[in-house]
Amino acid sequence: MDKILNKKKIILIIGGGIAAYKSLDLIRLLKKQECEIKVVLTESGKKFVTPLSVTSLSQNKVYQDIFDSENEAEMDHISLSRWCDIILFAPITANSMAKLASGKADDLASTLILASNKQVILAPAMNVRMWHHKSTQINFHKLLDDFGYLNIGPFIGEMACGEYGEGIMASPNEIFEFIKEYFTERNLVKNLNLKALVTAGPTKEYLDPIRFITNNSTGKQGYEIARSLAKFGVDTTLISGPSKLKKPENVNIIRVETTNQMFDETKKILPVDIAVCAAAVSDFKPEKYEKNKIKKDTINLNLKRNVDILEFLSKNNQQRPKLVVGFAAETENLEEFSRKKIHSKYCDWIVANDVSNPEIGFGSDYNEVSIIMKSGGLEKLEKNTKSYVANTLVNKIINHFVQ
Ligand code: CTP
Repeated sequence: MDKILNKKKIILIIGGGIAAYKSLDLIRLLKKQECEIKVVLTESGKKFVTPLSVTSLSQNKVYQDIFDSENEAEMDHISLSRWCDIILFAPITANSMAKLASGKADDLASTLILASNKQVILAPAMNVRMWHHKSTQINFHKLLDDFGYLNIGPFIGEMACGEYGEGIMASPNEIFEFIKEYFTERNLVKNLNLKALVTAGPTKEYLDPIRFITNNSTGKQGYEIARSLAKFGVDTTLISGPSKLKKPENVNIIRVETTNQMFDETKKILPVDIAVCAAAVSDFKPEKYEKNKIKKDTINLNLKRNVDILEFLSKNNQQRPKLVVGFAAETENLEEFSRKKIHSKYCDWIVANDVSNPEIGFGSDYNEVSIIMKSGGLEKLEKNTKSYVANTLVNKIINHFVQ
């Protein structure tokens, strides 16, 4: 028996589709490893597998209806969603993905997912045309990129309807291996006890009580990185400049205004294993702060350099984080300037983005970046949501530590 899966609590939602029968075999595989499984059968799932066969295999009762009075006292959708370690939806149909993507909650499956903060894993299964339909693809990518759900499959093969193409649900073995790998990775991260610091947002450099120098950064990319690190179980602190964004779940947040405050808070939380400096820190601040409002005929704006937080972290011999990741906001010669920054700031990786393109960068929900390594490697990510960019970067960071 594999210890990784032992006593793991899994909610398996079986949706409608010929592939539903495969989930019965998956229950058997997971039970063999002493997983605890509670199965939710959707209305259309019931057309393909019977509650009796599910009960016999899972050795638990089957959850079917959100208003099931029998379940009410013992376990409603809220406690069901709190009970589990992961939620696996296999097979999930195009219709269920559309529901989840729009936040609709009209049955037990969609309600418990909406009420949960646990990792959701999807194993889609449908006809090839349905799978490739634009609306299905938009919903699927929204679930992955914006909500952070994971997927296994669908794969290419011959379908029950006789057509051939992408839309086949992963096999019980493939799903089983996927879940095992998921928990193995989380276990490793847990044992590593990683601590991370993320800086995000702009800074404000005051000239007098009411005027300041700042920039257009909203903090979106940094917040998404902190959210993603926390999801992996990394103890994450986000030091944020002025930003309207909400605190990501399970992240410690410290809100600051000026670069000096960001710097002071950074020093306080060292040592950390990972530092991601995503903040658009102001390079300059007024040489002098006037405590009263400056009169227009006396204005004299002299600037001086601000402390560089990224450089401080990288050059900190006593408490240097094991991995220091900086960002490079450039409007020209992206790769060349970013490589120079790696060397001048002594960091390990630079996430380079072109801030001259209004469709990406500051304020946009999208980003297009290259992750450039000190060792010479470069990974270009096509334009995608900032949460996708964050998840990809964090996956890379985690792999760096677990290898
Ligand atoms: N950074 C920092 N502290 C500063 C300035 C920048 O920590 N005082 C960090 C940013 O968070 C980012 C990286 O340094 O991770 C690069 O920022 P960027 O604005 O692209 O570069 P600069 O150092 O400001 O250089 P330049 O303006 O010449 O491009």
